[in-house]
Amino acid sequence: MPRYHSLGKIPHKRHTQFRKPDGSLYHEQLFGTIGFDGMYSNSYHEHRPTMVKDIKRQYSVAPKIAKENNLQSYRLRGFQVKPENDYLESRKAVLTNSDCSIILSAPKHSLEDYFYKNADADELLFIHKGSGKLRTHLGNLDFKYGDYLLIPRGIIYQIDFDTEDNRLFIVESRRPIYTPKRYRNWFGQHLEHSPFCERDIRVPYELETNDEKGDFLIKVKRKDEIIEMVYASHPFDVVGYDGYNYPYAFSIHDFEPITGRIHQPPPVHQTFETDAFVICSFCPRLYDYHPESIPAPYNHSNIDSDEVLYYVDGDFMSRNDIDAGHISLHPAGIPHGPHPGAVERSIGKKKSNELAVMVDTFKPLMVTEEAMKIADEDYYKSWL
Ligand SMILES: [Fe+2]
Repeated sequence: MPRYHSLGKIPHKRHTQFRKPDGSLYHEQLFGTIGFDGMYSNSYHEHRPTMVKDIKRQYSVAPKIAKENNLQSYRLRGFQVKPENDYLESRKAVLTNSDCSIILSAPKHSLEDYFYKNADADELLFIHKGSGKLRTHLGNLDFKYGDYLLIPRGIIYQIDFDTEDNRLFIVESRRPIYTPKRYRNWFGQHLEHSPFCERDIRVPYELETNDEKGDFLIKVKRKDEIIEMVYASHPFDVVGYDGYNYPYAFSIHDFEPITGRIHQPPPVHQTFETDAFVICSFCPRLYDYHPESIPAPYNHSNIDSDEVLYYVDGDFMSRNDIDAGHISLHPAGIPHGPHPGAVERSIGKKKSNELAVMVDTFKPLMVTEEAMKIADEDYYKSWL
């Protein structure tokens, strides 16, 4: 997050002696990104964060590809993904390429028996159903329906869920995820025309500091494998940190839609950016107010990007037969648009209550076997 944050206790100067009450030193860790060129944080630990005790199993969790070269539009029925007890096992990649994976997940149980760290990818969790607390070594964040949780690569985390009824839409990104640069001034502050600003971003507010030693399992994800590493001290042993690299939350309900007299293009909905894809939030909003306007979108060819829409809530005006939890995939180069009847239906309407998350990837997405289990194979004929 391009904004300074400090939590817990830190010494006045970085890289200087910072002592515990018993006179011994805390252990400083510089947690950097993009070499030493990106955002970073300095954290202070009870124990050395380097005490690997054992390396156990290493196994593949790579998505199994059903269609590598896909030009077929699909509808995926996301809520047909079966709930599973374990958080990591519940995550089913449905679409993937070398930059990102799009994952559906219905975890029943909290992640509390082990710790998890994605060493390759930033993780963006969109909470469709459920509430609870994201617990990380750099502090905790409460979450509920509509929240995006941005967990930068390398953050060690667990998740507490309040109930067993949870639905997550997750994007794993090998490219860093930022808020759009064009929303920020040259100091990094969000500009007046940005659809959200610093007040809408929730930063970690609670630091858990555990002094325990023992056996602590961290499942580390690297190159589509999980590597089980046992550490000799509790991963949440930070007494304080400061910097720019930490997890944060943003509610889709805090996104202020930009509207116009005629149809506004998708970039007005943009919420996050990477150099490999964008993420947009389609939120309840007033419709176009030109007297002759057509609120439904026009047919369009997004020739350079595959378009993934995840439908969250409300009526999806441009589509027939789309429900919450569905994903539509419209591959690059294949024109798509409103379903038959949708254009006429939209004329004269004053507002939309649709809520959806869009991911537009610049490289083609491969369709996985998990996707084929929940796919509507005939969706591509739905404009006839
Ligand atoms: Fe589209």
